[in-house]
Amino acid sequence: MLFFNSRLFYVGMVSFVLILVLILSMWVRYTIPEHMDVPSIPPSNALYKNTKIPIEVRVQDLLSYMTLNEKIEQMVLVEKNSVHNLDDITSYGLGAMLSGFGAKPTDNTGIGWNTMVTDFVMRSEKSRLGIPLFYGVDAIHGHSNIANATIFPHFIGLGATGNVKLVEDVARATAEELVATGIRWSFSPTLDMPRDIRWGRTYETFSDDPVLVGKLGTAYINGLQKEKAGSSTSSIFVMGTPKHFVGIGGMQWGSSSNKDFKIDQGTTYPDEAKLREEYLFPFTKVIDAGALSIMIGLNSWGDTKLSASSYLVTNVLKGELGFKGFAVSDWYGVYEISKSKYDSTVSAINAGIDMVMLPFDYSTFVGNVLHAVQNGDIAESRIDDAVRRILRAKFALGLFDAQSPHVSLDVIGSAEHRALARDAVAQSLVLLKNENAVLPIATTTRFIRVAGSTADNIGRQAGAWTVEWQGIDGNWLPNATSILAGIRARAGSTTRIAYDELGNFADDGEIADIGIAIVGEKPYAEGWGDTAYPILSIEDREAIKKLRATSKKVVVIIVSGRPLFVTNEIASWDAVVAAWLPGSEGEGVADGLFGDTPFVGTLPLPWPHHTEQLPIMRDGRTADKTSVLFPRFFGLR
Ligand code: GLC
Repeated sequence: MLFFNSRLFYVGMVSFVLILVLILSMWVRYTIPEHMDVPSIPPSNALYKNTKIPIEVRVQDLLSYMTLNEKIEQMVLVEKNSVHNLDDITSYGLGAMLSGFGAKPTDNTGIGWNTMVTDFVMRSEKSRLGIPLFYGVDAIHGHSNIANATIFPHFIGLGATGNVKLVEDVARATAEELVATGIRWSFSPTLDMPRDIRWGRTYETFSDDPVLVGKLGTAYINGLQKEKAGSSTSSIFVMGTPKHFVGIGGMQWGSSSNKDFKIDQGTTYPDEAKLREEYLFPFTKVIDAGALSIMIGLNSWGDTKLSASSYLVTNVLKGELGFKGFAVSDWYGVYEISKSKYDSTVSAINAGIDMVMLPFDYSTFVGNVLHAVQNGDIAESRIDDAVRRILRAKFALGLFDAQSPHVSLDVIGSAEHRALARDAVAQSLVLLKNENAVLPIATTTRFIRVAGSTADNIGRQAGAWTVEWQGIDGNWLPNATSILAGIRARAGSTTRIAYDELGNFADDGEIADIGIAIVGEKPYAEGWGDTAYPILSIEDREAIKKLRATSKKVVVIIVSGRPLFVTNEIASWDAVVAAWLPGSEGEGVADGLFGDTPFVGTLPLPWPHHTEQLPIMRDGRTADKTSVLFPRFFGLR
């Protein structure tokens, strides 16, 4: 007992407790990361919840409540089929999700989409700070994930119209069909400019001319983002994402980093002056128009992947061009920077990528970034800058504010939108040849033969990015009209029309007044469309020959995503019309053929004579210095 009363005992006990406290504090210091913020709970009247105060104040206020984890989770863009436990949307506070093209709800209708997207957003609003997530899709020619949506002409056809007002109206109609399904973000407009038509994404572009692309890109962003005149809210309607920064279309043939492709995801111009002169201008225009996010391309500049180029992403895009929105990387592009996911993530975020389209495995990404901040590979100030840019866009979209825009599901595929699409088709037609004015076709014409792979094939006239990423060949699109159906509907009541896809008509010895060949390409997307020889199929060329033998005059309608080499055949055709990829409203082609609408379209890019001319530069110069078949902006009236 004496011992327990002794001074020695108390000194020993005090020392023991002090050592224990020291060990404990060491343990806390080195095992629980220093960044384990103690989450501060925002008051119900927190500034960021107040719709009346400036966005910058709301951004800064919200940021001040966020833990490092919550900040990093705002930088995630994950594909919806990669979220295996939907509770993660809440527990992780995921910042953004997307449908990789074709990733649809089981019920692929407007209501099916609306139910799915609304559920995702509501789950995100149950996170600690209730930050609503972005949901994005590629609505690049209408809300074309949905079969009964209005499928507008692909951009190359819109480029052929050159019509700023029409392009803005098409973007607006597309935005309405998106908002009807709860979606407020589209990865469009494309500002790429093709120098080489062997590239599988030529049809996704307006033109190879920077001035035209700047004008139509601005029109498209305005159509997506501007609220209708007189609207009650100041928020933007649908956020666009001009893409892909920078120099996509200028890749060199054979330089693709993807072993399955030839030019897509390749290396763009090495010469900085040429890269700037040919590719920056459209981005300056859309930034002036209020773009809040820009997608960084999968191409490379020299040996550097665009997502790892701090010079182009931070110095040029954010510095010189003054872009205040967020830079989002393209599909898995960050992880193509190097073999290490950790190093690639560090390179991309330090280069200025603010949101990463992973698109899978968000937990690895969050862990890597957390680790990188803890050990100083990424400064927390860089994270704060990225999150500020993302939150700025979320506030501008009004995602935090109660009254998100409502549009009735009836708008999807509505008669009004289809009429607009039909008008866009008619304006996109480019008349390349018209010997002896065989066009327009008189409704009193006695006998018309029709042939070709794309006459009665809505899947081909719509092209890819239609319900499925690579599109679907064949007549499967509901409520759409094939070009043949448009001709049948428009021809005179006394006109006889004979159709055979291959041109195998009964040998009745009769000669038709006009033979119409509607020919073109199978659907393809991205690098799967890279081809050394963009030409007509042998079946289509045979069908044209059979029409030639059984008709007085032959009209060829080329339905393709790009100019095709027709140099050796075009001399024997009386009339030629480039119809591009018109989408669901095939009647628009008949409107031009029968003269209901004038031919106003012009070539959005040069139509080459042969392969050795490629690439063709902005001033029209060809690689072998010979003349193209038809120059940019050519079009007969
Ligand atoms: C694709 C495309 C890009 C698209 C994205 C999401 O790979 O490069 O244009 O927006 O992935 O589908």
